[in-house]
Amino acid sequence: MTGPIIRAMTPADVPAAERLSDECFHELDLRMNRPAWPPPEPRSSGGAERWVERTLHFLTTDPGGCWVAEDDTGLLGFATSFVRDTTWCLATYVVRPGLQGRGIGKALLEAAMHHGRGCLHGMLSASADPKALRRYHLAGFELHPQMFLTGVVDRSAIPAIDKVREGSAGDVELMNSLDRRTRGAAHGPDHELLLRTWRLIVSDSSTGSGYAYLGDRNVVILLAASNRRTAARLLWTALADASTDRPVNVVHVTAANQWAVQVGMAARLELHQDGYLALRGVKPPAPYIHDGALL
Ligand SMILES: CC(C)(COP(=O)(O)OP(=O)(O)OC[C@H]1O[C@@H](n2cnc3c(N)ncnc32)[C@H](O)[C@@H]1OP(=O)(O)O)[C@@H](O)C(=O)NCCC(=O)NCCS
Repeated sequence: MTGPIIRAMTPADVPAAERLSDECFHELDLRMNRPAWPPPEPRSSGGAERWVERTLHFLTTDPGGCWVAEDDTGLLGFATSFVRDTTWCLATYVVRPGLQGRGIGKALLEAAMHHGRGCLHGMLSASADPKALRRYHLAGFELHPQMFLTGVVDRSAIPAIDKVREGSAGDVELMNSLDRRTRGAAHGPDHELLLRTWRLIVSDSSTGSGYAYLGDRNVVILLAASNRRTAARLLWTALADASTDRPVNVVHVTAANQWAVQVGMAARLELHQDGYLALRGVKPPAPYIHDGALL
């Protein structure tokens, strides 16, 4: 048997990478005994399809950012990353359980980071795996704890909400401006993918501008706003439109986004902590809720 080689990812690798990432994160959930959300379970078929579509998107926009490790037994691990403006972002990074802690991850991360060698800024959403955190720390990232809120929304707490409308492709320029203002880099081509996948709401008035992509169980996929009041208005809209009969989550809330904690508490959701937003050369974005992969 030959040792692992690191090579560029191709579209043919993506289905196996999807299976491997699900296996790794499921194993991690069980190993870390993660708290309340979501109960550890394999990815849904819809989630798997979205994962494949998103990874093929990265291979189109950033083929030089996506790497796999393999030997003659098959895929051992991979890292997918991309560059937007001057920010390098890591989307997914895994090594097969049982082979972790032997240096495969180091080689993969180095290959992916080479793609971002011209970037002043870096961003990724880290799991709580101590091996991942060691790698990110050694790569120069600062770790900012992520909170999440979970529960069934107390509908009597929802305030009257105005100045929020459905969004469309016509809002991309506004969204890219808000991205640059809050996180220092536009999402650019990622908005096409996000628009295809999620519902978009926009608030754009004399008092402020913002947008949010809304999901199902995780009610907010991504949110950016020019001020906290507009951000809170968008989050309340997401909670008001959420399922009434089962718990919802607001994930990826950093300490810089206390406005989101305030809204979640007012809606009588529970507050917990999970993972870290890892940043290099950039302050925690605010008012902002990041997507775990597109950030
Ligand atoms: C994160 C991950 C991709 C890293 O790959 P890997 O092959 O395990 O990484 P490496 O072996 O190159 O590096 C791990 C580092 O952690 C150290 N380490 C090993 N076990 C550790 C532990 N229990 N606690 C802390 N550090 C540990 C290793 O010694 C190594 O550090 P070193 O290079 O200074 O010696 C892999 O562990 C993984 O898939 N984890 C589960 C999924 C995950 O969390 N992915 C990241 C999502 S953000």
